[in-house]
Amino acid sequence: MPTETVYGLAGSIESRAAIAAIFSLKKRPPQNPLIVHVAEASEILRFSKTFPPFFKELADAFWPGPLTLVIPVEPASILPEIRAELFTQAFRIPAHPLARELLFRVGPLIAPSANLSGRPSAVSRAHVESDFGSDFPVLDGGECQKGVESTILIWSEEKWRLGRLGAIAAEAFISLLGYEPTFSQPQAKGPLCPGQLFRHYAPDANLHLVTSFEELSYPCIVGFSDRMYPAHSHFISLGSSLAVEEVLRRLYSALRELDEKNIEEAWIDYRVPKKGLWLTFLERLQKAREKR
Ligand code: TXA
Ligand code: MG
Repeated sequence: MPTETVYGLAGSIESRAAIAAIFSLKKRPPQNPLIVHVAEASEILRFSKTFPPFFKELADAFWPGPLTLVIPVEPASILPEIRAELFTQAFRIPAHPLARELLFRVGPLIAPSANLSGRPSAVSRAHVESDFGSDFPVLDGGECQKGVESTILIWSEEKWRLGRLGAIAAEAFISLLGYEPTFSQPQAKGPLCPGQLFRHYAPDANLHLVTSFEELSYPCIVGFSDRMYPAHSHFISLGSSLAVEEVLRRLYSALRELDEKNIEEAWIDYRVPKKGLWLTFLERLQKAREKR
């Protein structure tokens, strides 16, 4: 199904067969839990009796939208393979009209990003078909408007903490929470978000993240339309360096284009501000560079 962030591989939360199929299709490690997508926040009441401070305020301010909230749940209310045996569950209300319509009709759906585990996420029907085959059933909702996954906030040790950077910048929560959520947690208890442990977003191509270009000839440069670059055989544009949202929208398509064109080495312009949504761009590229 389409969402405003990336396409999701959707399945019923009641169906063990669907859950198993999703993990096996994606080749996803079973220790990596899934997000439950709902049409309305009231649907979450069946999974949890008490809600952390500011849960309602966050939901009211950001849903429908690219925010995922992880909260403690009643373990018996949700199949353990969805939450990877944790006693918490991730929820979000996607903003794409087709996703909402589907959720209103069929009820809550689990939906990890619709890509093979480790690959760049899919932001169009063509991307989904490239990972799962041209016969794969896709509800075509066009190109995803955000192009990167939801930001994840996790309630842990009396604070909202970042589980994943995403389509909402961490600063955006300051006015509501009174602090900026960070990845840190007080005690060394391992990562808050299992997904952080696994390889992600990576094309087959080798990526060089560069902060200065030499006067060489490069096989492939991934850069910005408003900058000058040395000689190159291929150029893949991320759009203007002044428009971070557009850059994020194009990012996974650019990474996938490298493999479509059988490009083995790419030099990516890494000269961007270390703040706001650019932090999501930087983090995705760092992960994408990691090798199997
Ligand atoms: O934008 C999105 O969130 C997309 C669209 C389809 O909604 N979905 C998505 O799902 O990105 P997925 O499965 O690719 O990523 C879910 C992330 C993983 O990193 C997982 O570890 C984390 O959410 N997560 C899920 N449940 C969690 C939990 N109980 N505690 C901590 N992290 C959790
Ligand atoms: Mg994913």
